Amino acid sequence: MEFKQNVLCIGAGYVGGPTMSVIADRAPDVKVTIVDINKARIDAWNSEDLPIYEPGLYDVVKRARGRNLFFSTDIDGAIREADIIFVSVNTPTKTFGHGAGMASDLQYWEKTAREILAAANGSKIIVEKSTLPVRTAEAMSTILNSNDKGIHFEILSNPEFLAEGTAIRDLETPDRVLIGSEQTPEGLAACEKVVDLYARWVPREKILTTNLWSAELTKLTSNAFLAQRISSINSISALCEKTGADVSEVAKVMGQDKRIGPHFLKASVGFGGSCFRKDVLNLAYLCEFYGLHEVSAYWKSVVDMNEWQESRFVSRMLENMFNTIAGKRIAVFGFAFKADTGDTRESPAHHVVRDLLDERALPIITDPKAIPEAKRDLADVLDKVQFEADPYAAAKGAHAIAICTEWKQFCDLDWKRIYDGMEKPAFVFDGRNLVDAPALRDMGFRVFQTGR
Ligand code: UDX
Ligand code: UDX
Repeated sequence: MEFKQNVLCIGAGYVGGPTMSVIADRAPDVKVTIVDINKARIDAWNSEDLPIYEPGLYDVVKRARGRNLFFSTDIDGAIREADIIFVSVNTPTKTFGHGAGMASDLQYWEKTAREILAAANGSKIIVEKSTLPVRTAEAMSTILNSNDKGIHFEILSNPEFLAEGTAIRDLETPDRVLIGSEQTPEGLAACEKVVDLYARWVPREKILTTNLWSAELTKLTSNAFLAQRISSINSISALCEKTGADVSEVAKVMGQDKRIGPHFLKASVGFGGSCFRKDVLNLAYLCEFYGLHEVSAYWKSVVDMNEWQESRFVSRMLENMFNTIAGKRIAVFGFAFKADTGDTRESPAHHVVRDLLDERALPIITDPKAIPEAKRDLADVLDKVQFEADPYAAAKGAHAIAICTEWKQFCDLDWKRIYDGMEKPAFVFDGRNLVDAPALRDMGFRVFQTGR
Protein backbone atom coordinates (compact mmCIF):
# COMPACT_ATOMS: atom_id res chain seq x y z
CA MET A 1 0.00 0.00 0.00
CA GLU A 2 1.12 3.55 -0.80
CA PHE A 3 1.34 5.61 2.38
CA LYS A 4 0.72 9.34 2.52
CA GLN A 5 3.49 9.98 5.00
CA ASN A 6 6.25 8.10 6.80
CA VAL A 7 6.56 8.69 10.52
CA LEU A 8 9.37 7.18 12.55
CA CYS A 9 9.93 6.99 16.29
CA ILE A 10 13.35 6.22 17.73
CA GLY A 11 12.94 4.63 21.20
CA ALA A 12 10.30 1.95 21.81
CA GLY A 13 9.79 2.57 25.53
CA TYR A 14 6.86 3.48 27.77
CA VAL A 15 6.38 6.73 25.86
CA GLY A 16 7.36 5.92 22.26
CA GLY A 17 5.54 2.57 22.05
CA PRO A 18 2.03 3.60 23.16
CA THR A 19 2.15 7.04 21.51
CA MET A 20 3.09 5.75 18.09
CA SER A 21 0.66 2.83 18.35
CA VAL A 22 -2.20 5.27 18.88
CA ILE A 23 -1.01 7.49 16.01
CA ALA A 24 -0.93 4.42 13.73
CA ASP A 25 -4.35 3.32 14.91
CA ARG A 26 -5.87 6.74 14.24
CA ALA A 27 -4.03 7.52 10.98
CA PRO A 28 -4.20 4.36 8.85
CA ASP A 29 -2.82 6.13 5.76
CA VAL A 30 0.41 7.02 7.58
CA LYS A 31 3.19 4.46 7.89
CA VAL A 32 4.45 4.44 11.47
CA THR A 33 7.72 2.69 12.25
CA ILE A 34 9.22 2.33 15.71
CA VAL A 35 12.88 1.42 16.06
CA ASP A 36 15.04 0.69 19.07
CA ILE A 37 18.62 -0.38 19.68
CA ASN A 38 17.29 -3.07 22.02
CA LYS A 39 16.44 -6.09 19.84
CA ALA A 40 14.76 -8.02 22.64
CA ARG A 41 12.38 -5.11 23.16
CA ILE A 42 11.53 -4.93 19.45
CA ASP A 43 10.96 -8.70 19.36
CA ALA A 44 8.57 -8.33 22.27
CA TRP A 45 6.68 -5.52 20.51
CA ASN A 46 6.27 -7.92 17.58
CA SER A 47 4.94 -10.70 19.83
CA GLU A 48 1.78 -11.41 21.83
CA ASP A 49 3.64 -10.51 25.00
CA LEU A 50 4.33 -6.75 24.75
CA PRO A 51 7.36 -5.40 26.65
CA ILE A 52 5.23 -3.07 28.79
CA TYR A 53 1.94 -3.58 30.58
CA GLU A 54 -0.59 -0.87 29.80
CA PRO A 55 -4.37 -1.43 29.87
CA GLY A 56 -5.82 -1.41 26.34
CA LEU A 57 -2.44 -1.24 24.61
CA TYR A 58 -2.51 -4.71 23.10
CA ASP A 59 -5.82 -4.10 21.33
CA VAL A 60 -4.46 -0.93 19.73
CA VAL A 61 -1.24 -2.65 18.66
CA LYS A 62 -3.12 -5.64 17.26
CA ARG A 63 -5.33 -3.44 15.08
CA ALA A 64 -2.44 -1.56 13.48
CA ARG A 65 0.57 -3.88 13.58
CA GLY A 66 1.56 -5.16 10.12
CA ARG A 67 -0.98 -2.78 8.53
CA ASN A 68 0.72 0.58 9.05
CA LEU A 69 2.58 -0.01 12.32
CA PHE A 70 6.00 -1.65 12.22
CA PHE A 71 8.58 -2.41 14.92
CA SER A 72 12.15 -2.80 13.70
CA THR A 73 15.83 -2.55 14.54
CA ASP A 74 16.83 -1.22 11.13
CA ILE A 75 17.41 2.30 12.42
CA ASP A 76 19.30 3.66 9.39
CA GLY A 77 16.84 2.32 6.83
CA ALA A 78 13.92 3.74 8.78
CA ILE A 79 15.62 7.15 9.08
CA ARG A 80 16.13 7.34 5.31
CA GLU A 81 12.48 6.56 4.67
CA ALA A 82 10.99 8.94 7.25
CA ASP A 83 9.51 12.40 6.74
CA ILE A 84 8.92 13.04 10.43
CA ILE A 85 11.14 11.52 13.14
CA PHE A 86 10.01 11.46 16.76
CA VAL A 87 12.83 10.90 19.24
CA SER A 88 11.79 9.21 22.46
CA VAL A 89 15.04 7.81 23.82
CA ASN A 90 15.66 7.96 27.53
CA THR A 91 17.14 11.03 29.19
CA PRO A 92 17.99 9.86 32.72
CA THR A 93 19.44 12.03 35.46
CA LYS A 94 23.18 12.48 35.00
CA THR A 95 25.24 10.36 37.37
CA PHE A 96 28.64 11.89 36.69
CA GLY A 97 30.45 15.20 36.23
CA HIS A 98 28.73 18.59 36.09
CA GLY A 99 25.15 18.52 37.32
CA ALA A 100 25.44 14.91 38.56
CA GLY A 101 22.24 13.94 40.38
CA MET A 102 20.24 16.81 38.86
CA ALA A 103 20.87 17.56 35.18
CA SER A 104 19.65 15.33 32.34
CA ASP A 105 22.07 12.96 30.69
CA LEU A 106 21.75 13.91 27.04
CA GLN A 107 24.21 11.42 25.62
CA TYR A 108 21.55 9.17 24.05
CA TRP A 109 19.81 12.16 22.55
CA GLU A 110 22.95 13.53 20.97
CA LYS A 111 24.00 10.09 19.76
CA THR A 112 20.58 9.70 18.15
CA ALA A 113 20.86 13.12 16.49
CA ARG A 114 24.21 12.10 15.01
CA GLU A 115 22.74 8.78 13.80
CA ILE A 116 19.96 10.70 12.08
CA LEU A 117 22.50 13.01 10.49
CA ALA A 118 24.66 10.14 9.25
CA ALA A 119 21.80 8.17 7.72
CA ALA A 120 19.60 10.96 6.34
CA ASN A 121 19.55 11.62 2.60
CA GLY A 122 16.93 14.39 2.60
CA SER A 123 15.39 17.09 4.78
CA LYS A 124 13.38 15.91 7.81
CA ILE A 125 11.29 17.16 10.67
CA ILE A 126 12.70 16.04 14.04
CA VAL A 127 10.29 15.98 16.97
CA GLU A 128 11.48 15.86 20.58
CA LYS A 129 9.23 13.50 22.51
CA SER A 130 11.66 12.89 25.36
CA THR A 131 11.52 15.44 28.16
CA LEU A 132 14.53 17.62 27.65
CA PRO A 133 16.16 20.59 29.30
CA VAL A 134 15.10 23.95 27.92
CA ARG A 135 17.01 24.95 24.80
CA THR A 136 18.01 21.40 23.85
CA ALA A 137 16.25 21.85 20.51
CA GLU A 138 18.59 24.70 19.72
CA ALA A 139 21.65 22.53 20.43
CA MET A 140 20.21 19.70 18.34
CA SER A 141 19.47 22.06 15.48
CA THR A 142 23.09 23.21 15.53
CA ILE A 143 24.39 19.64 15.40
CA LEU A 144 21.97 18.51 12.70
CA ASN A 145 22.19 21.57 10.51
CA SER A 146 25.98 21.78 10.41
CA ASN A 147 26.04 19.26 7.59
CA ASP A 148 27.50 19.46 4.13
CA LYS A 149 24.75 17.34 2.55
CA GLY A 150 22.64 20.41 1.80
CA ILE A 151 19.72 19.07 3.82
CA HIS A 152 17.73 20.88 6.48
CA PHE A 153 16.32 19.64 9.77
CA GLU A 154 13.49 21.47 11.45
CA ILE A 155 13.32 20.69 15.19
CA LEU A 156 9.99 20.63 17.02
CA SER A 157 9.14 19.92 20.64
CA ASN A 158 6.06 17.75 21.27
CA PRO A 159 6.27 16.74 24.91
CA GLU A 160 4.14 13.78 25.98
CA PHE A 161 1.76 14.17 28.91
CA LEU A 162 0.48 10.58 29.15
CA ALA A 163 0.50 8.95 32.57
CA GLU A 164 1.34 5.26 32.81
CA GLY A 165 -1.61 3.01 33.57
CA THR A 166 -3.94 5.37 31.66
CA ALA A 167 -1.70 5.94 28.63
CA ILE A 168 -4.18 4.82 25.98
CA ARG A 169 -7.01 6.94 27.34
CA ASP A 170 -4.63 9.91 27.76
CA LEU A 171 -3.47 9.55 24.16
CA GLU A 172 -6.90 9.00 22.66
CA THR A 173 -8.58 11.86 24.54
CA PRO A 174 -5.80 14.18 25.68
CA ASP A 175 -6.43 17.35 27.73
CA ARG A 176 -4.12 19.03 25.25
CA VAL A 177 -1.40 18.33 22.70
CA LEU A 178 1.51 20.74 22.71
CA ILE A 179 3.77 21.45 19.74
CA GLY A 180 6.57 23.98 19.93
CA SER A 181 8.45 25.26 16.91
CA GLU A 182 10.68 28.05 15.79
CA GLN A 183 8.56 31.01 14.78
CA THR A 184 10.05 31.11 11.27
CA PRO A 185 8.09 30.24 8.09
CA GLU A 186 9.88 26.84 7.94
CA GLY A 187 9.31 26.21 11.65
CA LEU A 188 5.62 27.06 11.43
CA ALA A 189 5.18 24.92 8.31
CA ALA A 190 6.77 21.93 10.04
CA CYS A 191 4.58 22.53 13.08
CA GLU A 192 1.48 22.49 10.87
CA LYS A 193 2.41 19.02 9.55
CA VAL A 194 2.52 17.59 13.06
CA VAL A 195 -0.68 19.45 13.99
CA ASP A 196 -2.35 17.73 11.00
CA LEU A 197 -1.23 14.35 12.25
CA TYR A 198 -2.85 14.81 15.66
CA ALA A 199 -5.89 16.61 14.23
CA ARG A 200 -7.12 13.28 12.85
CA TRP A 201 -8.52 12.50 16.28
CA VAL A 202 -7.78 15.43 18.60
CA PRO A 203 -10.06 18.49 18.35
CA ARG A 204 -8.10 21.42 16.89
CA GLU A 205 -8.70 23.67 19.89
CA LYS A 206 -6.88 21.16 22.07
CA ILE A 207 -3.74 21.30 19.92
CA LEU A 208 -1.70 24.17 21.27
CA THR A 209 1.32 25.61 19.51
CA THR A 210 4.04 27.69 21.14
CA ASN A 211 7.64 28.60 20.60
CA LEU A 212 10.18 25.85 21.17
CA TRP A 213 11.39 26.86 24.58
CA SER A 214 7.91 27.39 25.98
CA ALA A 215 7.06 23.84 24.92
CA GLU A 216 10.18 22.39 26.53
CA LEU A 217 9.65 24.37 29.72
CA THR A 218 5.92 23.57 29.90
CA LYS A 219 6.65 19.88 30.17
CA LEU A 220 9.07 20.36 33.06
CA THR A 221 6.71 22.79 34.75
CA SER A 222 3.62 20.58 34.39
CA ASN A 223 5.38 17.67 36.04
CA ALA A 224 6.87 19.94 38.71
CA PHE A 225 3.42 21.33 39.61
CA LEU A 226 1.92 17.83 39.79
CA ALA A 227 4.78 16.57 41.96
CA GLN A 228 4.52 19.66 44.14
CA ARG A 229 0.84 18.96 44.84
CA ILE A 230 1.71 15.47 46.07
CA SER A 231 4.54 16.74 48.25
CA SER A 232 2.20 19.41 49.65
CA ILE A 233 -0.51 16.93 50.59
CA ASN A 234 2.08 14.48 51.91
CA SER A 235 3.55 17.18 54.15
CA ILE A 236 0.04 17.76 55.51
CA SER A 237 -0.39 14.00 56.02
CA ALA A 238 2.40 14.11 58.60
CA LEU A 239 0.68 16.94 60.43
CA CYS A 240 -2.64 15.06 60.33
CA GLU A 241 -1.04 12.04 61.99
CA LYS A 242 0.13 14.28 64.85
CA THR A 243 -3.10 16.19 65.31
CA GLY A 244 -5.83 13.64 64.70
CA ALA A 245 -7.08 15.28 61.50
CA ASP A 246 -7.76 13.01 58.51
CA VAL A 247 -5.86 13.95 55.36
CA SER A 248 -8.50 12.43 53.07
CA GLU A 249 -11.18 14.62 54.62
CA VAL A 250 -8.96 17.68 54.37
CA ALA A 251 -8.13 16.92 50.71
CA LYS A 252 -11.74 16.24 49.82
CA VAL A 253 -12.98 19.52 51.21
CA MET A 254 -10.08 21.51 49.76
CA GLY A 255 -10.68 19.91 46.38
CA GLN A 256 -14.25 21.24 46.24
CA ASP A 257 -12.77 24.69 45.78
CA LYS A 258 -12.71 25.06 41.99
CA ARG A 259 -9.45 26.97 42.25
CA ILE A 260 -7.77 23.98 43.90
CA GLY A 261 -9.59 21.11 42.18
CA PRO A 262 -10.07 17.52 43.38
CA HIS A 263 -7.36 15.63 41.47
CA PHE A 264 -3.88 14.68 42.52
CA LEU A 265 -4.43 15.23 46.22
CA LYS A 266 -3.99 11.65 47.41
CA ALA A 267 -1.54 11.38 50.25
CA SER A 268 0.78 8.43 49.71
CA VAL A 269 4.00 6.70 50.60
CA GLY A 270 5.55 9.08 48.04
CA PHE A 271 5.50 9.71 44.32
CA GLY A 272 7.52 7.56 41.94
CA GLY A 273 7.85 7.06 38.20
CA SER A 274 10.49 7.94 35.70
CA CYS A 275 9.45 11.60 35.34
CA PHE A 276 8.63 13.49 38.51
CA ARG A 277 11.91 13.28 40.38
CA LYS A 278 13.98 13.68 37.22
CA ASP A 279 12.00 16.63 35.90
CA VAL A 280 11.80 18.52 39.20
CA LEU A 281 15.55 18.13 39.72
CA ASN A 282 16.10 19.19 36.17
CA LEU A 283 14.02 22.32 36.70
CA ALA A 284 15.97 23.08 39.89
CA TYR A 285 19.22 22.63 37.99
CA LEU A 286 18.07 24.95 35.24
CA CYS A 287 17.24 27.66 37.80
CA GLU A 288 20.58 27.16 39.51
CA PHE A 289 22.32 27.51 36.16
CA TYR A 290 20.66 30.87 35.61
CA GLY A 291 21.58 32.06 39.12
CA LEU A 292 18.03 31.75 40.50
CA HIS A 293 19.12 30.04 43.71
CA GLU A 294 15.90 30.68 45.66
CA VAL A 295 13.74 29.33 42.85
CA SER A 296 15.98 26.29 42.59
CA ALA A 297 15.79 25.62 46.35
CA TYR A 298 12.00 25.96 46.25
CA TRP A 299 11.61 23.21 43.64
CA LYS A 300 14.32 21.03 45.13
CA SER A 301 12.30 20.94 48.36
CA VAL A 302 9.54 19.08 46.49
CA VAL A 303 11.93 16.16 46.01
CA ASP A 304 13.31 16.46 49.56
CA MET A 305 9.76 16.23 50.97
CA ASN A 306 9.12 13.13 48.86
CA GLU A 307 12.25 11.41 50.15
CA TRP A 308 11.26 12.26 53.71
CA GLN A 309 7.77 10.85 53.15
CA GLU A 310 9.26 7.60 51.81
CA SER A 311 11.60 7.30 54.82
CA ARG A 312 8.85 8.08 57.28
CA PHE A 313 7.01 4.92 56.25
CA VAL A 314 9.41 2.40 57.79
CA SER A 315 10.11 4.71 60.77
CA ARG A 316 6.42 4.56 61.55
CA MET A 317 6.44 0.77 61.29
CA LEU A 318 9.31 0.61 63.74
CA GLU A 319 7.61 2.92 66.24
CA ASN A 320 4.48 0.83 66.23
CA MET A 321 6.11 -2.59 66.11
CA PHE A 322 7.96 -2.26 69.40
CA ASN A 323 11.04 -0.61 67.86
CA THR A 324 12.32 -3.73 66.18
CA ILE A 325 11.52 -5.45 62.93
CA ALA A 326 14.80 -7.35 62.68
CA GLY A 327 14.08 -10.91 61.57
CA LYS A 328 10.36 -10.17 61.06
CA ARG A 329 8.62 -11.14 57.83
CA ILE A 330 7.08 -8.06 56.23
CA ALA A 331 4.79 -8.61 53.23
CA VAL A 332 5.23 -5.77 50.75
CA PHE A 333 2.01 -5.39 48.75
CA GLY A 334 2.94 -3.74 45.46
CA PHE A 335 6.29 -2.88 43.95
CA ALA A 336 5.19 -0.89 40.87
CA PHE A 337 5.32 2.91 41.25
CA LYS A 338 1.55 3.09 40.74
CA ALA A 339 -1.29 0.72 39.90
CA ASP A 340 -1.89 -0.68 36.38
CA THR A 341 1.73 -0.67 35.32
CA GLY A 342 4.69 -3.01 35.69
CA ASP A 343 7.04 -0.03 35.79
CA THR A 344 9.11 0.26 38.96
CA ARG A 345 11.32 3.23 38.11
CA GLU A 346 11.76 5.42 41.22
CA SER A 347 9.08 3.36 42.93
CA PRO A 348 8.53 4.30 46.59
CA ALA A 349 8.20 0.55 47.26
CA HIS A 350 11.84 0.15 46.31
CA HIS A 351 12.80 2.77 48.88
CA VAL A 352 10.67 1.02 51.50
CA VAL A 353 12.26 -2.38 50.78
CA ARG A 354 15.76 -0.92 51.14
CA ASP A 355 14.77 0.63 54.48
CA LEU A 356 13.33 -2.71 55.62
CA LEU A 357 16.60 -4.40 54.71
CA ASP A 358 18.55 -1.78 56.68
CA GLU A 359 16.45 -2.83 59.68
CA ARG A 360 17.24 -6.48 58.88
CA ALA A 361 13.61 -7.36 58.27
CA LEU A 362 12.67 -9.99 55.67
CA PRO A 363 10.58 -8.41 52.88
CA ILE A 364 8.30 -10.70 50.89
CA ILE A 365 7.23 -8.86 47.77
CA THR A 366 4.02 -9.43 45.86
CA ASP A 367 2.78 -7.48 42.83
CA PRO A 368 0.35 -8.42 40.05
CA LYS A 369 2.66 -7.20 37.26
CA ALA A 370 6.05 -6.04 38.53
CA ILE A 371 7.76 -9.09 40.04
CA PRO A 372 10.26 -9.46 37.14
CA GLU A 373 11.13 -5.75 37.44
CA ALA A 374 11.42 -6.04 41.24
CA LYS A 375 13.85 -8.94 40.86
CA ARG A 376 15.95 -6.84 38.50
CA ASP A 377 15.93 -3.80 40.83
CA LEU A 378 16.88 -5.91 43.84
CA ALA A 379 19.47 -8.04 42.02
CA ASP A 380 22.16 -7.12 44.58
CA VAL A 381 20.11 -8.39 47.57
CA LEU A 382 18.22 -11.36 46.13
CA ASP A 383 19.36 -13.56 49.01
CA LYS A 384 17.64 -11.22 51.50
CA VAL A 385 14.19 -10.82 49.88
CA GLN A 386 11.46 -13.18 48.73
CA PHE A 387 8.88 -12.89 45.96
CA GLU A 388 5.38 -14.37 45.91
CA ALA A 389 2.92 -13.98 43.07
CA ASP A 390 0.11 -14.91 45.47
CA PRO A 391 -0.58 -12.21 48.11
CA TYR A 392 -1.99 -14.80 50.54
CA ALA A 393 1.30 -16.70 50.41
CA ALA A 394 3.25 -13.45 50.83
CA ALA A 395 1.29 -12.60 53.99
CA LYS A 396 1.53 -16.08 55.50
CA GLY A 397 3.47 -15.92 58.75
CA ALA A 398 4.14 -12.20 58.33
CA HIS A 399 4.15 -9.74 61.21
CA ALA A 400 3.05 -6.87 59.00
CA ILE A 401 1.79 -5.91 55.55
CA ALA A 402 3.18 -2.79 53.91
CA ILE A 403 0.86 -1.57 51.13
CA CYS A 404 2.99 0.39 48.67
CA THR A 405 0.96 0.32 45.43
CA GLU A 406 -2.75 1.02 45.07
CA TRP A 407 -3.60 -2.12 43.07
CA LYS A 408 -7.37 -2.59 43.16
CA GLN A 409 -6.78 -6.35 43.52
CA PHE A 410 -5.55 -5.76 47.07
CA CYS A 411 -8.93 -4.29 48.11
CA ASP A 412 -10.72 -7.38 46.89
CA LEU A 413 -8.68 -9.85 48.93
CA ASP A 414 -10.20 -11.99 51.66
CA TRP A 415 -8.61 -10.05 54.51
CA LYS A 416 -9.98 -12.41 57.15
CA ARG A 417 -8.09 -15.24 55.50
CA ILE A 418 -4.96 -13.08 55.44
CA TYR A 419 -5.40 -12.23 59.13
CA ASP A 420 -5.71 -15.89 60.11
CA GLY A 421 -2.41 -16.71 58.42
CA MET A 422 -0.37 -13.91 60.05
CA GLU A 423 1.64 -13.59 63.26
CA LYS A 424 -0.22 -11.68 65.98
CA PRO A 425 -0.55 -8.82 66.56
CA ALA A 426 -1.05 -8.45 62.80
CA PHE A 427 -0.16 -5.02 61.43
CA VAL A 428 -1.18 -3.29 58.20
CA PHE A 429 0.70 -0.15 57.15
CA ASP A 430 -1.33 1.28 54.32
CA GLY A 431 0.83 3.70 52.33
CA ARG A 432 -2.02 4.31 49.85
CA ASN A 433 -5.08 4.54 52.11
CA LEU A 434 -6.44 1.66 50.10
CA VAL A 435 -8.09 -0.70 52.57
CA ASP A 436 -11.25 -0.30 54.62
CA ALA A 437 -9.48 0.37 57.91
CA PRO A 438 -12.49 0.05 60.27
CA ALA A 439 -13.43 -3.32 58.72
CA LEU A 440 -9.87 -4.58 59.09
CA ARG A 441 -9.72 -3.34 62.67
CA ASP A 442 -12.88 -5.30 63.40
CA MET A 443 -11.10 -8.43 62.21
CA GLY A 444 -8.28 -7.75 64.67
CA PHE A 445 -5.70 -5.99 62.50
CA ARG A 446 -3.74 -3.00 63.78
CA VAL A 447 -4.06 -0.61 60.85
CA PHE A 448 -1.99 2.51 60.20
CA GLN A 449 -2.84 4.68 57.23
CA THR A 450 -1.15 7.73 55.77
CA GLY A 451 -2.29 11.03 57.25
CA ARG A 452 -4.83 9.45 59.58
C1 UDX B 1 11.71 8.31 27.71
C2 UDX B 1 12.44 9.32 28.57
O1 UDX B 1 12.94 8.66 29.72
C3 UDX B 1 11.60 10.46 29.03
O2 UDX B 1 12.39 11.50 29.51
C4 UDX B 1 10.81 11.02 27.94
O3 UDX B 1 9.87 11.91 28.44
C5 UDX B 1 10.20 9.98 27.05
O4 UDX B 1 11.10 8.97 26.68
P1 UDX B 1 10.40 6.13 28.40
O5 UDX B 1 9.76 5.85 27.09
O6 UDX B 1 9.63 5.83 29.64
O7 UDX B 1 10.75 7.67 28.54
O8 UDX B 1 11.86 5.49 28.44
P2 UDX B 1 12.29 3.99 28.13
O9 UDX B 1 11.16 3.07 28.41
O10 UDX B 1 13.59 3.82 28.80
O11 UDX B 1 12.48 3.99 26.54
C6 UDX B 1 13.55 4.53 25.85
C7 UDX B 1 13.95 3.57 24.71
O12 UDX B 1 14.93 4.20 23.90
C8 UDX B 1 14.56 2.25 25.19
O13 UDX B 1 13.82 1.16 24.70
C9 UDX B 1 15.98 2.28 24.62
O14 UDX B 1 16.46 1.01 24.24
C10 UDX B 1 15.83 3.20 23.45
N1 UDX B 1 17.07 3.83 23.00
C11 UDX B 1 17.89 4.45 23.88
C12 UDX B 1 17.41 3.80 21.64
O15 UDX B 1 16.70 3.22 20.82
N2 UDX B 1 18.57 4.42 21.24
C13 UDX B 1 19.42 5.02 22.11
O16 UDX B 1 20.45 5.54 21.72
C14 UDX B 1 19.06 5.04 23.49
C1 UDX C 1 3.41 11.71 35.17
C2 UDX C 1 2.46 12.81 34.67
O1 UDX C 1 1.18 12.64 35.30
C3 UDX C 1 2.33 12.75 33.16
O2 UDX C 1 1.52 13.81 32.70
C4 UDX C 1 3.71 12.83 32.55
O3 UDX C 1 3.64 12.71 31.14
C5 UDX C 1 4.62 11.76 33.11
O4 UDX C 1 4.67 11.84 34.53
P1 UDX C 1 3.23 9.09 35.62
O5 UDX C 1 4.51 9.27 36.36
O6 UDX C 1 3.14 8.03 34.59
O7 UDX C 1 2.82 10.46 34.88
O8 UDX C 1 2.03 8.81 36.67
P2 UDX C 1 1.21 9.73 37.68
O9 UDX C 1 -0.18 9.28 37.64
O10 UDX C 1 1.46 11.17 37.47
O11 UDX C 1 1.78 9.31 39.11
C6 UDX C 1 3.09 9.63 39.54
C7 UDX C 1 3.29 9.21 40.98
O12 UDX C 1 2.54 10.04 41.86
C8 UDX C 1 2.85 7.78 41.28
O13 UDX C 1 3.78 7.16 42.14
C9 UDX C 1 1.51 7.97 41.96
O14 UDX C 1 1.16 6.90 42.79
C10 UDX C 1 1.78 9.25 42.74
N1 UDX C 1 0.56 9.98 43.10
C11 UDX C 1 -0.27 10.47 42.12
C12 UDX C 1 0.25 10.23 44.44
O15 UDX C 1 1.00 9.82 45.34
N2 UDX C 1 -0.87 10.95 44.76
C13 UDX C 1 -1.71 11.44 43.79
O16 UDX C 1 -2.71 12.10 44.15
C14 UDX C 1 -1.40 11.19 42.44
